[in-house]
Amino acid sequence: MNESEFSLDGKIILVTGAGGLIGQEVCDAYAAYGATVIATDNQSSEKLHAQIARLNRRYPEGNFSGISADVTSEESVGKLFHHIQETYHQLDVLVNLAAIDAKFDDGQKAINLSRFEHYPLELWERSVAVNATGLIRVTQHAVRLMLPRRSGHIINVASTYSLVAPNQSLYETDPETAPVFKPIDYVGTKSMVPNFSRYIATFYAREGIRCNTVVPHGIMNQHPKAFQDNFAKLSPLGRMCELKEIRGPFVFLASHASSYMTGSTLVVDGGWTAW
Ligand SMILES: NC(=O)c1ccc[n+]([C@@H]2O[C@H](COP(=O)([O-])OP(=O)(O)OC[C@H]3O[C@@H](n4cnc5c(N)ncnc54)[C@H](O)[C@@H]3O)[C@@H](O)[C@H]2O)c1
Repeated sequence: MNESEFSLDGKIILVTGAGGLIGQEVCDAYAAYGATVIATDNQSSEKLHAQIARLNRRYPEGNFSGISADVTSEESVGKLFHHIQETYHQLDVLVNLAAIDAKFDDGQKAINLSRFEHYPLELWERSVAVNATGLIRVTQHAVRLMLPRRSGHIINVASTYSLVAPNQSLYETDPETAPVFKPIDYVGTKSMVPNFSRYIATFYAREGIRCNTVVPHGIMNQHPKAFQDNFAKLSPLGRMCELKEIRGPFVFLASHASSYMTGSTLVVDGGWTAW
């Protein structure tokens, strides 16, 4: 084993949700390790192009492209994969990051303030379309591209709420305002991800395709102080995750260093689910 085991030179990697918090960091990490990165998101083309321009400035030798696509649309995802087929003729790694997630970061309004018994089912259906059906759709297209070469790796992104229920006291940050709750759409749709990965891993294990899950948790994004304090009390490591700390697990999984791993769940949660 040497450091070249972690090299991503020559690998073509598609990242969905690439314009998001983790997506931007993961694209940068893959670029740093030598991959050709295809960044996709349903954000505007301008935002994606600005992201690609930043990658080009930091890694002038690299090869990066940004393509807008909506994972809820068969037509949109079909066009994305047609482009990948025509331009690159192969796909080595797919990272499924695109998702709807009610946020509690500073400056972001929590999507839902209601308790479970009043939770609007339209929000559940919207999240199913992205976090579940969208995940399956993109994975289907990727597998079709990977099968002829009998080679590929799919990295799905779950949550600690795929493994345990949210501790709703984490979100109690202001006694003066109405309570907010982590909603069921996120917990329900993310719960399928580790077992979906096991399904794909075992379905295609003998056809050269691997599939694994990363479980991030509590990535710092200028959260209010009260949220950080709550988090620190509940977390064994006593702090939130720095954005850069997510790079290593994603690079490791995309690289040859993880070659004997499939169907696994790589938990990066500061010990949250350990007690
Ligand atoms: N941030 C965390 O602390 C954390 C913790 C656990 C798990 N995760 C998971 O990591 C992944 C990324 O999280 P993040 O914090 O970067 O979220 P984010 O909201 O910053 O990024 C998600 C991205 O998905 C994109 N997206 C949403 N709907 C889409 C659609 N229909 N088609 C295409 N793209 C779409 C959004 O535009 C956004 O850029 C998610 O799957 C999330 O569940 C994040």
